[in-house]
This record gives sequence, C-alpha cells and structure tokens, in this order.
Amino acid sequence: MDRIDLRSDTVTLPTQAMREAMAKAEVGDDGREGDPTVRRLEEKAAAITGKEAGLFVVSGTMGNSVAMFAHTNRAAGTVLLDEKSHILRSEMGAIATLAGLFFKIVPAKRGAMDLDRLAEAIQSSLSEGELPTLMIEMETTHNGAGGTVLAPEHMQAVFALAKKHGIPVHTDGARFFNAAVKLGVRPSELARHTDSISFCLSKGLSAPVGSVIVGSKAYIQRARAWRRMLGGTLRQAGIIAAAGIIALETMIDRLAEDHESARRLAEGIHDVDPSLVDPRSVETNIVMLDFQKSGRGAREWAEALNANGLWVRPGGATRMRLVTHRHIGKAEVERAIAAFAKVSKELRARTPVRAVAGE
Ligand SMILES: Cc1ncc(COP(=O)(O)O)c(C=O)c1O
Repeated sequence: MDRIDLRSDTVTLPTQAMREAMAKAEVGDDGREGDPTVRRLEEKAAAITGKEAGLFVVSGTMGNSVAMFAHTNRAAGTVLLDEKSHILRSEMGAIATLAGLFFKIVPAKRGAMDLDRLAEAIQSSLSEGELPTLMIEMETTHNGAGGTVLAPEHMQAVFALAKKHGIPVHTDGARFFNAAVKLGVRPSELARHTDSISFCLSKGLSAPVGSVIVGSKAYIQRARAWRRMLGGTLRQAGIIAAAGIIALETMIDRLAEDHESARRLAEGIHDVDPSLVDPRSVETNIVMLDFQKSGRGAREWAEALNANGLWVRPGGATRMRLVTHRHIGKAEVERAIAAFAKVSKELRARTPVRAVAGE
C-alpha cells in the first residue's frame, strides 16, 4: 500500500487534463516575441486577481525575489515582515544576499503583523540614520503560522498604512487561493489590499511547476527585467504554463476539500491525544502538531509514523506540520488517524519517557 504523503501539497501530481494540455500547448520563445500559452496564463492570473498584468516564474521563491527586486530596485532600504515569513525562514536569505535589502521583524500573531508595531517601525525608519522602508510584506495563507488566513480587514489596514507613507506592499500568496476559498471571497477582493502577489500553481493547485506574480503593468514590466537578470526567462515555457492554466480553471474550488480533510485529520488526532493539536487552530490545509506534552520528540514520532505507512517529517524538536492535498481523500485521512492511534500506543509503551524540551 502506498505511503500517505502528508509532507506538503507540493507533492501533488499533474492531472491527466494537465498532461494533455501540456502535450498540445501552442508555444513560442518567451524571451523574444513571447509564448502564446504563457501569455494566456499571465492574462488569466491577472484577471482572476483583478490586477493589470502577470508574470510567470518558475517557483514561489523566485516569485518573492523578483517581486522584491521590482519594488525596491536594489536601493538601500528595509523590508518590514514577520519572523515566520517564508521569505525569512526558507529562501536562503535572498532578501539580503540577492535583493540587497535590510529587514525588520514586526511582531505578529497567527501570521498577522501587529498594526501598532508596524506603524512604529515605519515611523522609526523616517528618522535620521535609519534606512527608509521600501516594502512591506504579508503572507496569506501563512505557512509558518500553520496555514492561517489574514483577515481582509487586516490586509486592508496594512495596505492603508503603507499607502499613507507611499510604501509598496507585496503579498506572498503561495497559497493565496486557499485563503480566498476559506474566506469565501473572490481572489480579487483580497488582492485589492496589496500591490503585488506571487502565488504558486504547483502546491494545492497541482500543476507540476510554476508561480505567477501579478501587479500593475509598469510593475510587471520591471519584474520581467529582474526575472531575466536572475536567469528566469524561459523559452517554450508554454509547455509548463499549459498545466498552470488548467490549475487556475479547475483546481481552485476543490481546495475546500483539502481544508475539510485537514480539519477531520486534526479532530481524529485530537481524539487520539488531545495534547497534540487543537482542531480549532486549523484554518486551511495545514495541521500543526506539538508533541511536547507527549514526552516524545518529533523525530521519534516521525520515525514511528513513517514505519506505519505515513510520510511525515519533523519540523523542529517537538513540532510537525501535516499538509493535506488532492491525493489525501477521506480514506487516507482515516488511515492516517489510525496510524496516529497505533503509534501513540506504541510510544506510550516504550520506557522511559523523557522530558522533551519545547521550542
Ligand atoms: C508561503 C510560501 N512562500 C513561498 C514558497 C516557495 O515556493 P517554491 O517552493 O515554489 O519556491 C512556499 C513553499 O512552500 C511557501 O509556503
């Protein structure tokens, strides 16, 4: 029996319709006159988000880097963001090493930066000897915070504050459509509260490769030049963009199923051991587990779960992130819960129980 892969939604495989669209894609040289399929994807992405233009990039990480370059143009300055942002935690420091930017961390709760502290940070960057604030970054859904969704009112407040000071806002929306689906609003409703978004086609939307940055025409024109500098100009990229078009056309609404699976998974694990997770904390397709009270570390849990048909990995000494996606249906959720029940029993039977340091 196949292992149930709960490591990430990036493991989703392209659908048959995507493979067929890729085989038939009309293509051209995207670094010269343009690739017609890439152009269609970019136009579709812009239309869905209510922005003027879009730019296809190979990954979410490249999307964030190109987006930062295009907002800041390598000027000396600061980006304001939260400590758990993907840009800080998982992009190899590109914000500093590539984009040449300084950053300041704004305290956040469940991925939402504190508005007073954000205002203070902007204010302090106006004083002599400080670098100017060149960009504010939000992330929704917020990966590091556990798939949390920024409230539209919060996004609106951040955007209003930024505009008051003439500062551009970029949103890392790797799972932007999960946020819109969860809130039951059109993606363009959320996109109003940010200048640019980068969103991924290759996560819950199941395309094999790619992300899109959306924003104003002038902004995307600058982003296109920075993408070239980073080596991100592709040629017959319509082959992969074709799958992205299918992703946008057919995969957004079904994300609600992944949210439902995550909630059920969390409830089942809670029934096994209530200390591991509070199901009410699950907003989208990410379940964050905390093993501290179980007396066993995340590595020990992961090894035992992996031996029982799950594919999971520790996310620190006592934490683990589970992600639901298109290949996790009701049967897989129930099998995963059963594996947790079995492992919980096995681990309890092992002696001695050690004290596990939290993070
Ligand atoms: C919030 C967020 N931003 C950016 C990325 C990077 O995407 P990629 O893996 O396509 O570079 C991820 C990937 O998990 C993410 O979760």
